[in-house]
Amino acid sequence: MLRSVILAASRSSRVERLVETAPFTRDVVRRFVAGTATDDALRATQELVTNGLSVTLDHLGEDTVTAEQAVAVRDEYLALLAALSAGELTPAAEVSLKLSAIGQKFDEKFAYDNARAICAAASEAGTTVTLDMEDHTTTDSTLEILAQLRADFPTTGAVLQAYLRRTESDCRELASAGSRVRLCKGAYREPESVAYQAANDVDKSYVRCMNILMSGEGYPMLATHDPRLIAIAEDRARWFDRSPDTFEFQLLYGIRPEEQARLSADGYTVRVYVPYGDEWYGYLMRRLAERPANMAFFARALVSKK
Ligand code: FDA
Repeated sequence: MLRSVILAASRSSRVERLVETAPFTRDVVRRFVAGTATDDALRATQELVTNGLSVTLDHLGEDTVTAEQAVAVRDEYLALLAALSAGELTPAAEVSLKLSAIGQKFDEKFAYDNARAICAAASEAGTTVTLDMEDHTTTDSTLEILAQLRADFPTTGAVLQAYLRRTESDCRELASAGSRVRLCKGAYREPESVAYQAANDVDKSYVRCMNILMSGEGYPMLATHDPRLIAIAEDRARWFDRSPDTFEFQLLYGIRPEEQARLSADGYTVRVYVPYGDEWYGYLMRRLAERPANMAFFARALVSKK
């Protein structure tokens, strides 16, 4: 219930204005977002890489409606990749990209061209790109664009969401040699016709999907903070004889940092998803919707600033 309300608020421009201008917001944002500028992203990346973690960087923003905005997002990624390369932060750092930020909602071919330019820059910089997955209306289009990009840039990563009923089948399709696939639970509000609604059903689907990916020939990227799923993943790695260079864990910036350090110390590859940029509102609201304790953190910040 609370999750639905917060996810609805994440699409409300009135609530957005309220939250953005509230005095307590900055402290809350800082916990989950590296900062607004490219330099902030580079600083956070440097710190994580120094601590033995890998990184994927996300320039925040989605649902772009004009070509000018989409080109600006593309150019930000090109500048970021050049800076990562100059700072010798590749291949430890890669980038995550939302196709809706580069034009998918109004011109798929244009979005593909922009994504292609970013993949080429990533390849030049010695790293790669993962295509974030958005709401279910975009899944087919995103997987089609992924297939086109992989023709020239085979390391381009996919994201599959365990809450979607179709995802087991997508996992089977994508569990091929060299295929990088991030498996997450899914962060959008989706109808029952396409997505499991009960948390337990989503978790069970996650395990079924993880079994397919971990027993397959690809490179699974297990994106979750869930202790139970992380323990099952460690078990499957042993069961399927996967060495640490054949799969990785992924967690979000600011969430369970002690677990990120623990997994890394145990010899696993751990990649931290680092968001940065001005457009943090939708991202922050999805994080708050996921966990009541994050909401409590928000409320505490509010009370302490009064
Ligand atoms: P969930 O939120 O259900 O939490 C399960 C348990 O984990 C909790 O009960 C608690 O024990 C622990 N936990 C969670 N948060 C915690 C916290 N803050 N502190 C302490 N414990 C905590 N989604 C999407 O739709 N498209 C995408 O492209 C991506 N990309 C992506 C990349 C990466 C690297 C990650 C980690 C996640 C995504 N997601 C995503 C988001 C994903 O779909 C999902 O919404 C969140 O990861 C939350 O789900 P969890 O698996 O973490 O479990």
